[in-house]
Amino acid sequence: MIEVRRTIIAGNWKINMDHLEGASLAGDIAAGLEGREPACEVVLIPPFTALPAVMNAIEDSPISGGAQNLWYEENGAYTGEISTGMISALGCRYVLVGHSERRHVIGEGSDILSRKLRAALAGGLIPIYCVGETLGERESGTASKVVAEQIGEVLTGLSDADMRSTVIAYEPVWAIGTGKTATPDDAGSMHEIIRVLLGDIFGSRTAEDTPILYGGSVKPGNAAELLAREEIDGALVGGASLEAGSFLGIVFPA
Ligand code: 13P
Repeated sequence: MIEVRRTIIAGNWKINMDHLEGASLAGDIAAGLEGREPACEVVLIPPFTALPAVMNAIEDSPISGGAQNLWYEENGAYTGEISTGMISALGCRYVLVGHSERRHVIGEGSDILSRKLRAALAGGLIPIYCVGETLGERESGTASKVVAEQIGEVLTGLSDADMRSTVIAYEPVWAIGTGKTATPDDAGSMHEIIRVLLGDIFGSRTAEDTPILYGGSVKPGNAAELLAREEIDGALVGGASLEAGSFLGIVFPA
């Protein structure tokens, strides 16, 4: 499953939307795409309980589904966890790995994230591997060092084919849910740094072909200028993905 660099707009619903609300929102987004050609791949990433209903609602649409998390073993005694096989059995294409809320609230580090990323790839899912610095790290000038560690510790050792089936999302923690968006210049320069890091590990061709999304307070009012940057291949959207009108305003930027 070798993927190509493309524009992706993904809505991460986090812990919002039960299965009824989720089916309704997914149906509204699918209806909003009807008869229009988005210049991007549209992905919905609902909570697990809403995933079957959402997959059902987007079945006849061009929208792809994704999960917010996975466990790295396929089955066994892991109460409360969900495996790659369970996620792909629903027809999902993507899974988030390393979202800042999993790193900073749940406490996941590079070791567990490496296992999750590899389990996703082994099971045929495309991991969206999230990286990003905290406000303190940005202010102390260590943002690029932190991101380099997050990239190096988890992605080093992947085969070229696996890296080509992986998507990166740069989400500065200080911009998530705060209304503070990285400027297109700030985001663009970190995307450039990430692409150089990928080039160092995997070679420039693979680095050039890897989609790198931006996430952090993306909304209809700022999507166009972010997406206009050559380095930014799409968006991972939280709050603005919870309403069909605002999410479609990002999919079809003015
Ligand atoms: P917001 O768009 O609400 O800032 O969330 C971003 C995010 O965390 C997407 O994964």
